[in-house]
Amino acid sequence: MKPIEDRYRKKKRKIMSPADVEAVSARTGGRPPRSATGPRAGGPPGARTDWGEVGEWYDALVGDQGSEYHREVVLPGVMRLLAPGPADVAVDVACGQGVLCRLLHAKGVRVTGVDAAGSLIQAAIARGNPAIEYRVADARHLRVLPAEHFTLASCVLAIQNIDPIAPVFEGVARLLVGGGRFVLVMMHPAFRVPQQAHWEWDPGTRTQFRRVDRYMIAAKTAIRVHPGSNPAQQIWAFHRPLQTYINALGAAGLLVDRMEEWTSHKKSEPGPRAEAEDRARKEIPLFLALRAVKPRAQGV
Ligand SMILES: C[S@@+](CC[C@H](N)C(=O)[O-])C[C@H]1O[C@@H](n2cnc3c(N)ncnc32)[C@H](O)[C@@H]1O
Repeated sequence: MKPIEDRYRKKKRKIMSPADVEAVSARTGGRPPRSATGPRAGGPPGARTDWGEVGEWYDALVGDQGSEYHREVVLPGVMRLLAPGPADVAVDVACGQGVLCRLLHAKGVRVTGVDAAGSLIQAAIARGNPAIEYRVADARHLRVLPAEHFTLASCVLAIQNIDPIAPVFEGVARLLVGGGRFVLVMMHPAFRVPQQAHWEWDPGTRTQFRRVDRYMIAAKTAIRVHPGSNPAQQIWAFHRPLQTYINALGAAGLLVDRMEEWTSHKKSEPGPRAEAEDRARKEIPLFLALRAVKPRAQGV
């Protein structure tokens, strides 16, 4: 199956120019203006973006052990970057149906998973161990969890489905103890820009290359998960340049100590373009992983 950001279909798209992005950032410290996000009174800022309506499909796709990309690339990388041990207490933000929570629990970690989709939290509970705590909660409103309680935090393949991101990172910083680690994994924003980047073939040099038409934009794109059978079911993808993530982490007091770019494990079927396709897959990363640390208070 193609990664979700690659299966976008043309629909609604809202793009801000680089100048707009800079102006918004200057005014709001990285948050979109309130008028643009439509905050709900007393709730998280921004519109609803949870995957509750597509929960059944996503749970079946991920299964007990994860989708193929989870199993081959993402989960091994996340576990290596988190480096969990039995003394750790972890929170997985936007945990979906709990695939990472189950893996952390198997390593002896005390785990809490939160997601805004009730149907996915139900699926997580049904698949999980009762020792894993699950909560329906919005990633932009993590005050429901205790401060300075967790040694590890993660947000896997979800930050590009959430807007704004500043409250997510501020919330994670509040949850972590000093020295706690946060691992963030996303589709690589430099090469996977919904509706603005795709593979192309250069017959002259027999090269498969990634064409990127736009990058320095903030864009919101509707993605249909079943374009044929149920075009009404859609989720949202938010594109932001890499600097937005690094700067929002820094503004929340989370300092990046590691960045990794993960390529696809897949191989093309034998054919005239197979070698070029395999080389392109190895050259152009599919995922970006960032690890950030909450500094310890001075003198502690
Ligand atoms: C691609 S899924 C990833 C789920 C899980 N991390 C995984 O790797 O399977 C994106 C998840 O983000 C969740 N999500 C979207 N917006 C959210 C929000 N504002 N607060 C919490 N979760 C949110 C969705 O409900 C969905 O479970």
